[in-house]
Amino acid sequence: MTTAPADPTTSASTDWRITPEFTFTDEESAALAEAIGTVTANPYRLYDAHAFQIARLVEDGVVPERFRAYVETLADRDRHQEPVVVLKNVPYDREVPVFDFDEPVKSKYELKRTFVAEGFLALFAQLAGTPPIGYLNVNDGDVFQDIYPKRSMQTSQSQKALNAIHFHKDLANHFVRPDQVYMVGMRSNPENEVYTSFVRNIDVIASFTEEELELLRSPQFHTPFDDLTVMGGSLELGEADKHPVIGGEDDLRYFENRTVGVTDAARAIVPKVSATLHALKQRVFIEPGDFVITYNNHTVHAKEVLEVRKPEELRSRWIIKTVNVDDLEPHARHLMPGTRHLVNG
Ligand SMILES: [Fe+2]
Repeated sequence: MTTAPADPTTSASTDWRITPEFTFTDEESAALAEAIGTVTANPYRLYDAHAFQIARLVEDGVVPERFRAYVETLADRDRHQEPVVVLKNVPYDREVPVFDFDEPVKSKYELKRTFVAEGFLALFAQLAGTPPIGYLNVNDGDVFQDIYPKRSMQTSQSQKALNAIHFHKDLANHFVRPDQVYMVGMRSNPENEVYTSFVRNIDVIASFTEEELELLRSPQFHTPFDDLTVMGGSLELGEADKHPVIGGEDDLRYFENRTVGVTDAARAIVPKVSATLHALKQRVFIEPGDFVITYNNHTVHAKEVLEVRKPEELRSRWIIKTVNVDDLEPHARHLMPGTRHLVNG
């Protein structure tokens, strides 16, 4: 992971810096990868069995004690203040072939024969007590999803985009909003300057006057459903409602270039919201083996493509991710009956 400075041309500022907090030694990482390699269930086809076998590994004590202790500290974290956390050198699958640009997910099912990164994501979710969820409308309900370009969606604003994705939070207007997004870097050529950029919600809010905040807290904005939900969808979702941009203490519901004002005053403030995000952003280059924790309700993120020197390799840039919640109970009525992970929508 490397970071680049934010745009210095506006007065917005932040004293927050994303720096790696925990690094696995090569020995720890290799030993954990080997343990995860003993899991026999395919996480895409036998999800429950995979999760069960990962739980067994945890019981068997394969997790290094210092990592266990570190994960415990996350529970007391102030997510408003530290909404993004980076860990280094986590176990992941190396030398996986490049996937087909037309059908990368199908191609993954065929070509990816080990499930180390998926196993790590499942293990981390269990250690942190944050169950992963899948959505029926997104990748047919897969819990483990790829940020990986796909030809037919290359110009979309989704995890399958080839180029930039504007600032947003994941599944902002879905009825089950994830609390966390967990990502494992799988493939990224540093010759392509592609960054995952983050802004802390509290910094955005601090950049506006009381009068502006009042406007941003009123339901005078509209954001269409995200591309992935709509384009991958198997259910009718209807139109997204009017909503405020800021809700509660530091909730930011804003998709750059998609969220619009529905009144003159609201329309007038939208460009300032976008400018503020860019003034405050921090750029993270996600390397293979990086693990990024995002507290989805306290930060917004974007994919920025600054310089492409290897266009072919932009097509195989890859991050595996899950979205997770603190507690399944509040979402129970939205789960597919008989499952503990699949959102019916
Ligand atoms: Fe996202």
